[in-house]
Amino acid sequence: MKVYHEHFPVMLHECMDALITDENGIYIDGTLGGGGHAKEILALIGPEATLYGVDQDDEAHAAAKARIGDDPRFIPVKGNFGYLTTLLPPQAIGQVSGILLDLGVSTHQIKEAERGFSFQEDGPLDMRMGNLSGVSAYQVVNNYEYEALRDVFFLFGEETWKQAKLPKPIIDARPIDTTGQLAKVIKGVVSPKFAIKSWARIFPGNTKLK
Ligand SMILES: C[S@@+](CC[C@H](N)C(=O)[O-])C[C@H]1O[C@@H](n2cnc3c(N)ncnc32)[C@H](O)[C@@H]1O
Repeated sequence: MKVYHEHFPVMLHECMDALITDENGIYIDGTLGGGGHAKEILALIGPEATLYGVDQDDEAHAAAKARIGDDPRFIPVKGNFGYLTTLLPPQAIGQVSGILLDLGVSTHQIKEAERGFSFQEDGPLDMRMGNLSGVSAYQVVNNYEYEALRDVFFLFGEETWKQAKLPKPIIDARPIDTTGQLAKVIKGVVSPKFAIKSWARIFPGNTKLK
């Protein structure tokens, strides 16, 4: 059985103090993950309250369900929080007391090599959070033209001078099938001292080595 790598919420009590203003209100956890924040919200809200738990990742939903169990106040919703108004029932729109967003990639998504987020484990280049749709990292790395690749690294990876250097070696190394191969190409471009920083920018959420 697959183990879900749990996320331990930081600043849990501070978040709860700011979020919960009406004990019987409607709340949204827009980044449900393994349900760490959601479980705490449910412990603090009243019997008439509702919590919608939104995530685009099936594995997150399964883990949250296992952590929370059956609770009539909890309504899981699969989808992207960017489309909340289409995900929530009409009666909730305009009635929400608080929304929590714990932005980023989950520990689980990084640690599971086959999700394709990790530069520390070799896995297929994927980096999609859910199976809803969308372009995989493989398609970007192997199909984007020079300028488009540079823009992805610059806009989303916040690479600075290196964004100009990375696309060419990537294009030269194609096909790049795995996260390990991409990490190796990046390492060949930057000085070893900066490799970890560059990996962390290109592989979102990877901020520490194991
Ligand atoms: C850091 S984890 C959240 C952990 C959670 N707060 C907990 O306590 O277990 C971030 C989660 O947000 C989800 N996520 C990221 N961007 C999303 C988006 N645009 N729409 C829906 N879910 C998203 C990811 O799939 C991941 O499960």
